[in-house]
Formats: sequence, C-alpha cells, structure tokens
Amino acid sequence: MSEDAKPSGPDLAAGIPFADLADGAMLQGHAGGDAVLLARRGGEIFAVGALCTHYHAPLADGLMVGDTVRCPWHHACFSLRTGAAVRAPAFDPLPRWRIQREGDRVFVREKLAPTSKPPAADSEKRAWPESVVIVGGGAAGFAAAEMLRRQGYDRPVTLLSADADPPCDRPNLSKDYLAGTAKESWIPLKSPKFYANRQIDLRLGARVQAIDPRDRRVTLADGTQLGYGALLLATGADPVRLDLPGGAAMPLHYLRTLADSRAIVAAAADAKRAIVIGGSFIGLEVAASLRARKLEVHVVAPDARPLERVMGPEIGDAIRRLHEKNGVVFHLGETVAKIEGKTARLSGGASLAADLAVVGVGVRPATALADAAGLVTDKGVVTDEYLATSAPGIYAAGDIARWPDPHSGERLRIEHWVVAERQGQTAARNILGARERFDAVPFFWSQHYDVTINYVGHAARWDAIDIDGDLAAPDATVTFRQAGRPAAVATIFRDRASLAAEVELEQRIATR
Ligand SMILES: Cc1cc2nc3c(=O)[nH]c(=O)nc-3n(C[C@H](O)[C@H](O)[C@H](O)COP(=O)(O)OP(=O)(O)OC[C@H]3O[C@@H](n4cnc5c(N)ncnc54)[C@H](O)[C@@H]3O)c2cc1C
Ligand code: FES
Repeated sequence: MSEDAKPSGPDLAAGIPFADLADGAMLQGHAGGDAVLLARRGGEIFAVGALCTHYHAPLADGLMVGDTVRCPWHHACFSLRTGAAVRAPAFDPLPRWRIQREGDRVFVREKLAPTSKPPAADSEKRAWPESVVIVGGGAAGFAAAEMLRRQGYDRPVTLLSADADPPCDRPNLSKDYLAGTAKESWIPLKSPKFYANRQIDLRLGARVQAIDPRDRRVTLADGTQLGYGALLLATGADPVRLDLPGGAAMPLHYLRTLADSRAIVAAAADAKRAIVIGGSFIGLEVAASLRARKLEVHVVAPDARPLERVMGPEIGDAIRRLHEKNGVVFHLGETVAKIEGKTARLSGGASLAADLAVVGVGVRPATALADAAGLVTDKGVVTDEYLATSAPGIYAAGDIARWPDPHSGERLRIEHWVVAERQGQTAARNILGARERFDAVPFFWSQHYDVTINYVGHAARWDAIDIDGDLAAPDATVTFRQAGRPAAVATIFRDRASLAAEVELEQRIATR
C-alpha cells in the first residue's frame, strides 16, 4: 500500500462498469493493495498511482487536462499515458497498470514496467555540450540536474552548492520542519544514492567565486577551477539583512538554509517569547511555526496589513485574523529601531522583551557572480524566453532570473519554489538544444496553520479584486483583475478552482 492511503474506493482488480466512468472523469480505487487512479479520456482509460509523488496528495481531487493529471496541492503534472512527472514539484513518475476491457466492464490488471525515454539520436547528441556545470544546489539547480539525466544526457554534470546540506525542501524550513511536525530525514530532496546513481557530481560547501565566460571556466573559493560546456546559474536569493544597533544579546536569525532553520529550532527550545521582524510570507510562516512550539510570538511590520502588497487588503485582513486567533500579536505600522539587551525598541516607542528574533523582510537575488562576469543584469539576471543569458552557453533559472513572461508581457523575476524548479527543467532541456520557451504560469503556495493559500498568475498591481466565497470560513476564490481580465487568482480550500484558473491563464497565451 502506498504511504498514507488506505485502500478507498472500488476494487478495480474486480472491475467496474465502463459506464461508471464518464468521459473526462477520474476515480480513485485500489488494486492489489495499491491506491490506483482511473481516468477516462474518450474511449481510452488510464490507470496510474493515485497519490502524487511529491507530498502524496490524492490526484483524484486534481484536474485532468488532455492526457495529463494535475495535482491539487502544488500543481505537479503527470502524464496519464506514461506516468512521467512532466512538471515539478514532483519528479518521480507514477506507477502504471494495464487496463483490460471485457464486455461492459473495465479491469485493472498487472503493474507495468516503468517507461524510459528512448536513447537520443547521434544527431541530437552532437549538439550537446561537453559538460554542464550548475552553480546553485537549490530548487532550480536540482531540477536542472535531474532533468539533464532524465533526458539521457550522458556527459559530466557538476552541481556546485555553497550550502553545507544537499538540495532540500526549502519551503518546509519555515513550515512543518520549523513547527516540529516534519522529521529532518524528510528535508533532503533526494538521498546521496540518487546523485551517485545518476553520476551527478554534487559538491557541497563549494562556493563559486568567479565565472570566466570567455574561457568557459568557473573558479571556486578554494581555488579549484572547472571548465564547462554549458553553465546554469541558479544562485537564488539572500535574505535582506538588517543593520540594527544593539543585537548581540538577542542575535537576529535569518531563514534561507536548513542550517538557518536548525539554528532557529535550537534557539526556540529555550525561548519563551519571539519577535518576528517583517510581515512577509516567510515571517508569518515562522510566526505560525513558533506558535506550534508554544512560544509567545510578536510580529513587527511597517505595513498596515500583512501581505497586502501581494494579496490585497481582504486577504491581508483574513491572514491577520487567522494569526491573531492563533495567538500572534501584531505591531503593525512599526519597525524595530534598536535592540537593547533582550529588548527590542519599536519605532513608535514601545518595548518588546524577547529571547528570539527572526527577520523576514525579503530577499535580494544573488547576482554578484553574474555582475562580475559581465552578464546583463537588471535587479536579476536578464534572460531571453529560453532562459539564456547574454553570455553564450550560460543560462539562468530561479530566484535570480528575470525573463520575458508571455502572460503579463512583462519581464518578471519571481521567488516561487515551483517556478524555480520548472525554470531549471526548461533550462536543462534548452541546454540540450530544445529551444523551449519558458511559459509556465507562475504558481506558489503558502501555509499558515491548517490554511494553505494557492496563487496562480502574477499581479503586481490590479484594478479590481473579486471575492467569491468567504475568506473567514475560509473557503474562497480571489481574482485580481487588470483591465477587466484575471491576472492572478488566489484560492483557499479550493484546489480545483486554482487548477482551473491556471489552465485558463495558460490558454489565454496559447490563443494569442
Ligand atoms: C524558508 C522558506 C520558505 C519558502 N516557502 C515557499 C513556499 O511555500 N512556496 C513557494 O513558492 N516558495 C517558497 N519559498 C521560496 C523558494 O524556496 C525559492 O523561490 C526557491 O528556493 C528558489 O530556488 P533557487 O534555485 O533559485 O534558489 P535556492 O533554492 O535558494 O538555491 C540557491 C542555491 O545556490 C547556492 N549558491 C548561491 N551562491 C552560490 C555560489 N556563489 N556558489 C555556489 N553556490 C551558490 C546556494 O547555496 C543554494 O544552494 C521559500 C523560501 C524560503 C527560504
Ligand atoms: S503533493 Fe502533489 S505537487 Fe505537492
């Protein structure tokens, strides 16, 4: 039986009437103890694993689009035909089963062998670079390395990461891991065996100091030099640091790496009261996680409402109420002016004693390498629609990349996990010559207690916000409109609506 699922639904090995599955419908059942998803498209029926290979969401609650199924929780996409995870954040394929139709019944028979990509033709291989070096062992870097091997690329792949830990589930660092409900063993994206089996040369604590685009060479901080045929820059972003007077008696914590999260967990063990500086997504997720650890939590932020700039006033108020209901105290319209011993003095004159302070006031793209190498940058590394930078053979992906987004018509740089992974995947395919434009609709999620907000599209500004449902329930779809058309849609407890909005935003560009 697959991890979390009990065998629910009909026994598909015993068969079901064909007519019970309408065209376009999906049904979860089981066969031989495994949770199986049946999906019908016209006269065809597919049987694949019923649980997403990312966090095990039930795919029957997702959306079927053509011969793919999209996951309700974080929008991974799987081929129903092959089981392949065609879009992050899932990477592993779904298992598949043989279907047999007898008369008016459909039976799920034996499990099928995984499909593998046919080997690349020699003509295709001739265009491949001699080697690929990936700078950055985060979302984009990991996804790129995995995709290079999935495409059959058989030359050296080196993944250089300044982090001490292997590529990890970064979003979890402010959520379940910090709250103490996810084990540390769940945090690495893959085990060391994964890299070894695929001959991905993962080097940790390997900070790149310089890139020489002319000689196609990188130099590491320890002086090691490495040539490359193609390079992917995926250095992510660094937390904005505060230069606050005082500080030493109450060190300021920042959160980007697993080591940062561990340090906060350790500090929280002896702390009774925490200050979170900044009402950002990460700041508020930290607040929720520290509440789960029973700390008294105060959030200090200059805005009138948390998240208002990104999510609008209505969601901002709803999120504030949710946190207040869970015991968080907000000090809005305030900043921390200085730290004196274990007391933070606020700009309005009030004082807050605390034994732990976490700062979440945003990030800056880590573009220093690109700047020094002479790449075109503009508050991010500028790329074309294929994620190629201004230097031949160098691509960029993730939090550092500023790409021409065909949906908004703007050059975007976005700090979302799934966008970074999908950019890594697209960049990898383009490194191998695919010439595939990056046109995924941006998606992110954020979790506060048991409430998850899903957001598709991108609306830096809007003319109107429509709310369908009730944010207090919470059960709502919030549409951000520009010139009357949806530019982005946020949903709470409406996973299918989020997926449908994603498809609608995709189709708009497809028909342009
Ligand atoms: C705590 C936290 C929670 C988050 N939660 C969410 C969420 O819920 N939903 C969501 O959509 N997004 C979330 N994000 C944002 C998301 O994690 C990022 O958008 C994503 O990780 C960006 O991927 P990236 O590959 O560009 O950068 P990263 O994942 O940050 O990876 C960058 C890598 O580059 C390495 N590096 C940097 N400089 C060098 C150098 N000079 N040499 C070698 N290596 C270098 C770093 O060590 C790191 O390994 C969260 C981020 C954090 C920190
Ligand atoms: S559980 Fe399916 S994408 Fe996360």
